Amino acid sequence: MYTQDELSDIIQNGIDHIKYPDLATRLYDPVRYTMESGGKRLRPLLVLMATNLFKEDITPAIQPALGIEMYHNFTLLHDDVMDKAPERRGRATVHVKWDDNTAILSGDAMQALAYQLIAETPAYCLKEVIDVFNTTNIEIDEGQQLDMEFETRTDVRTEEYIEMIRLKTSVLLGCALKVGALVGQATPAQVQALYDFGINLGLAFQLQDDWLDCWGNPLTFGKRIGGDILCDKKTFLRIQAEKAAPLPVADRNDEQKYIDTFKQYYIETGAEQACRDAIALYGQKAKDCLKQLNLPDEKVAPLLAFVGKLENRKV
Ligand code: IPE
Ligand code: IPE
Ligand code: MG
Ligand code: MG
Ligand code: MG
Repeated sequence: MYTQDELSDIIQNGIDHIKYPDLATRLYDPVRYTMESGGKRLRPLLVLMATNLFKEDITPAIQPALGIEMYHNFTLLHDDVMDKAPERRGRATVHVKWDDNTAILSGDAMQALAYQLIAETPAYCLKEVIDVFNTTNIEIDEGQQLDMEFETRTDVRTEEYIEMIRLKTSVLLGCALKVGALVGQATPAQVQALYDFGINLGLAFQLQDDWLDCWGNPLTFGKRIGGDILCDKKTFLRIQAEKAAPLPVADRNDEQKYIDTFKQYYIETGAEQACRDAIALYGQKAKDCLKQLNLPDEKVAPLLAFVGKLENRKV
């Protein structure tokens, strides 16, 4: 079995070797800029870890893994337009460095590039891989649409929030694991167990992303702290806090003070603690799914450790 560091090197090497056409530089410059800006490379890692559970040779999973990372990066270009985000991975976002139209069009190109990479999946599972990828793609659109609609709603329930983050975030983690398992020729029950693991891991992951949006270290998080508060995002924090006490009175024109007031409100209402509890709950649910894999403990150990590692992440 490969170590996580070895798999990360394989992914980085693959990303470094993706060839972009020389033409239409302005279309591909933002693609290169985004793909070389790092990030955790979580999703391709999950693809390769899943394949490696069942096969020593992970080579056939590399191109689809890169395709899923390309696709993830495309979603970020459009998400940053929608969220008016100024910064990502410690750099100016594409729509700020270039403009909205560039972010839309380069994002579209990335989606096509993602499909090209995924099409290099081995023939024995190509149909299933394309099917789960298409389903995931449309589900993410549904989740992003809900995320936006919730900005102007005042009655979003916790269950609606969980369903929204399942769609916008979890399904891509589930998809990554499922693709890896399909390439690894796992049994249908094992494919499902890994998908379910990804769904619960994704819920914990997005809850934590929302938490970090408030309490991440501005020097290392790489994204603007308080962006969700300024956009009126109906995060778990916001929904839980509003169950306990009415919204605080704060002046939106003083953005830093507005953000600080909401963070204090989340702490005082117990929402911050509830968010950390929910992260632990979904992390545990994810770990429980792995029991259905029926694999030796030493095979499953890296995925179990991965859950803990993500729970302690700072970026
Ligand atoms: C950001 O994903 C979008 C969310 C689903 C929260 P990541 O936190 O995986 O972003 P990178 O790729 O590591 O930058
Ligand atoms: C992003 O959720 C989900 C997708 C990109 C599909 P967020 O909007 O919370 O992600 P960040 O915080 O901008 O990375
Ligand atoms: Mg965003
Ligand atoms: Mg968003
Ligand atoms: Mg976020």
